[in-house]
Amino acid sequence: MIVLGIESSCDETGIAVYSSEEGLLAHALHSQIALHAEYGGVVPELASRDHIRYLIPLIKQALAQAGIKKKTLDGVAYTAGPGLIGALMSGASVARSLAWALDIPAVEVHHMEGHLLAPMLEARPPSFPFLALLVSGGHTLLADVKGIGQYALLGQSLDDAAGEAFDKTAKLLGLGYPGGPALAAAAKQGHAGYYHFPRPMVDRPGLDFSFSGLKTYALNTMMKQAEKNLAETVEHPLNAQGLTEQNVADIALAFEQAAVDTLVVKSQRALIQQHCQRLVIAGGVSANLRLREQMGQMVKKHHAELFYPAVEFCTDNGAMIALAGCLRLQAGQMQPLEIAARARWSMQALPSINQT
Ligand code: KG4
Ligand code: ZN
Repeated sequence: MIVLGIESSCDETGIAVYSSEEGLLAHALHSQIALHAEYGGVVPELASRDHIRYLIPLIKQALAQAGIKKKTLDGVAYTAGPGLIGALMSGASVARSLAWALDIPAVEVHHMEGHLLAPMLEARPPSFPFLALLVSGGHTLLADVKGIGQYALLGQSLDDAAGEAFDKTAKLLGLGYPGGPALAAAAKQGHAGYYHFPRPMVDRPGLDFSFSGLKTYALNTMMKQAEKNLAETVEHPLNAQGLTEQNVADIALAFEQAAVDTLVVKSQRALIQQHCQRLVIAGGVSANLRLREQMGQMVKKHHAELFYPAVEFCTDNGAMIALAGCLRLQAGQMQPLEIAARARWSMQALPSINQT
């Protein structure tokens, strides 16, 4: 079965062609970073218009790259939520129309299920059951995964998502948008131990997270350091926040270390609690090298295995949607002509499919 995947839930137009026999045949991505950068975050109306501009050219590009014609497709998968409604509708209407014109089924995909299944694109895919830590810009959750559509929520963020905390802290530090990769890059130049940030909620039982306090802690640390810089008249140039480049790197590192530690501690607790031997990390923040490294060390200690997608499939992409859609189409699931795009959508509401 050959499936076209369409992702347009936020600020990336992602298209891919996935074959159940041969794996990923092609994928194309257009990022809207440059479009939204001057606003410091995603502007929903601009996002929708940009998806409309790029969807068709990227579909043509992916089909050409895969070396197939439209009529070879057996199905179309599209992200139906959660996400920005206008952005979702752009992708969903193109997907549904194409499927109708080609007389093939269309299937909706939950964006977070796409992230969760993305490690299955790799040469060494995880088998069920496994624990999943999903860390993206909009969600942070731990789930017990028994199979496709069998997701038991173990814990989630009570406030900001992990990626959101990276983005907001990066913005405070003057590192721009999107903040996660920029903050991680700055942290590489940081001195460990210069600042120490708290590890939110690790000393409380349970598997929930809270990240908004880290951002406030970063702000307070910055303000104190800026006052100190002023009083001591430092020789290095100061940025708009009154910080030296080294201050920014040191704070970035202290934040990153605290966020990563928190994610590792909770994942370890989940592994022990669920007696599980496999951990999947996925979503944009799973591209973070410190997180991968520390999670790898923790998992090793427990003789468990760690799985994550290739860096390009951690953040939003069409490949994960094509793969998830293919699995659901193979199980006979499909959507009628009415399009339902959902800003919010619980993963537990998804139908399960019997895994072979
Ligand atoms: O999964 P994703 O592309 O979009 C959502 O579904 O939200 O995740 C985007 C998030 C952003 O918050 C971004 O800053 C973060 O993932 N991110 C990172 C890294 N790369 C992306 N955070 C930390 N370190 C990174 N290397
Ligand atoms: Zn995402």
